[in-house]
Amino acid sequence: MKGIILAGGLGTRLHPLTKITNKHLLPIYDKPMIYYPLDTLVSAGITDILLVTGGNNAGDFLKLLGNGKEFGLRHLNYTYQEGEGGIAEALSLAEYFADGEPVVVILGDNIIEKNIKKAVQNFINQGEGAKILLKQVEDPWRFGVAELDGEKVTNIVEKPKDPKSNFVVTGIYMYDSSVFDFIKKLEPSARGELEITDVNNMFIKSGKMSWDMLDGWWTDAGTFESLYRANSLAAKKALNS
Ligand code: G1P
Repeated sequence: MKGIILAGGLGTRLHPLTKITNKHLLPIYDKPMIYYPLDTLVSAGITDILLVTGGNNAGDFLKLLGNGKEFGLRHLNYTYQEGEGGIAEALSLAEYFADGEPVVVILGDNIIEKNIKKAVQNFINQGEGAKILLKQVEDPWRFGVAELDGEKVTNIVEKPKDPKSNFVVTGIYMYDSSVFDFIKKLEPSARGELEITDVNNMFIKSGKMSWDMLDGWWTDAGTFESLYRANSLAAKKALNS
């Protein structure tokens, strides 16, 4: 398994914090945000990692992370996304890196309490298709919302006004190499982006999508409220460990 961290975008929801720097370089308690998804991958045993970045100060990632020595890595790969083409467009830049192998993709602003070791092993055992990790939340309308029928996920709706469940799709996705063929078939959404939710719905239609529940707390950090929550959760965890 290879790992991909998506840390591009302009982070406009966090202006003025992101006017001069990339969102994923902002602090979450005692570490830059990017440390958390990197740690999530490394602690799941994934050491071949590509960081897709973009926007302001992209060069700072190299200064900060270098070859990932602090994480026990020997090498770290980087690529650059221009503009805000969406999560699926950022992922398409990783096709050459994946080189036919399955990948774990994590959004650079997704911070978790525990680890994803078991889910990654379940996906390896699954052998093909895709897996998403779900979490029950109180504000599902902010996310991709999963519609479930027993054990199966039947549909995902991106930021619905009237969510059909409170199970949301976290920003941790596992795919086989067919993900890059699906991305090539995408059309931009109303907000002009290639949506990861459309990719996930393609896997659902093909009958090859599974889901696991994510253990422990989870938060994104792309708004003032969630950035504040991420800081508070990460501080509590660090201070209690
Ligand atoms: C993105 C995805 C959404 C997912 C969320 C998780 O939303 O589009 O489906 O639930 O990440 O963090 P965004 O952060 O781009 O609004």
